[in-house]
Amino acid sequence: MALVVIHGDLPGEAEARLRQKHEVVVTKTEQELHGLAKLAQAEGLLCLLTLRVNQQLLARMPSLKVVANFGVGFDNIDVPACTSRKIAVANTPDVLTEGTADLAWALLAATARRIPEGDRYVRSGQWKGYASDLLLGVDMFGKTLGIVGLGRIGRAMARRAEGFSMRIIYSHPRPVVGVPYTHVAFDTLLTESDFVSLHCPLRPETHHLLDAKALAKLRPNAIVVNTARGAVIDEKALIEWVRRGGIAGLDVFEGEPNVPAELVAEGRIVLLPHIGSATAETRRAMAILASQNLLDALSGRRPAALLNPDVWPAFVGPT
Ligand code: GLV
Repeated sequence: MALVVIHGDLPGEAEARLRQKHEVVVTKTEQELHGLAKLAQAEGLLCLLTLRVNQQLLARMPSLKVVANFGVGFDNIDVPACTSRKIAVANTPDVLTEGTADLAWALLAATARRIPEGDRYVRSGQWKGYASDLLLGVDMFGKTLGIVGLGRIGRAMARRAEGFSMRIIYSHPRPVVGVPYTHVAFDTLLTESDFVSLHCPLRPETHHLLDAKALAKLRPNAIVVNTARGAVIDEKALIEWVRRGGIAGLDVFEGEPNVPAELVAEGRIVLLPHIGSATAETRRAMAILASQNLLDALSGRRPAALLNPDVWPAFVGPT
């Protein structure tokens, strides 16, 4: 039996499954986590992606053997630091692919067809009757969709676009084998897309990928959808672009949960509170996978979603 820390609330029975095998402590705030008397004895950490698992935290957790992230993105975790301490790191891929693509698609439809604006218009009692020029959006059918990052979620987004007869182009570090979509340079994607949807991980090379220069290359009526990570877009540049009439659907932000007032003030921008994978089924599946990753690592089995396989031969295993 090991000591396991769960940082944040988990849906479903994941916590109970962990409790069957291990002593479990749940912390809700970073202050609580850092103040935990037994922090140094914890061998497992299951955390939401809001927790920064950095050198400072790792130094306080010398017994740690596994970090199981509740989320597919793992930019919150210093993976090289974990690897050098022989700590296994795992995430929750696959189970959230379709749910996240659904939300990206919904954001695209919401911005293109001005759905939140229409909802506010009706609720506020402003609607006085059918009008031929009321809340005109843009067609989605047959347009060009530019997908930045053709990984699992990017491909799921592309499949949705096929149903709308879109031309699908993508930028990716290399052409993806076996897909019927067109690999293009990032600049070409910017200039040719009606809609740009971000699906790349946040890495040093994708930080502020969509900066002022890139935004200036977009078509006049282009729509940008971001369900990846806020910092893939330079938010200051985005604010300027939006002020000039750019349209975006955003589920993620640079300084979550803070959303710049300038974005809030723009009625055509659709803003969501990082809910890409937030369906009951998907979140439950994520909790099960994250807890299984942790249980596997602590019992000496290689976790299905291990991110740093280098640790495995050297993995210390259960105590
Ligand atoms: C959500 O943003 C995730 O990475 O799972």
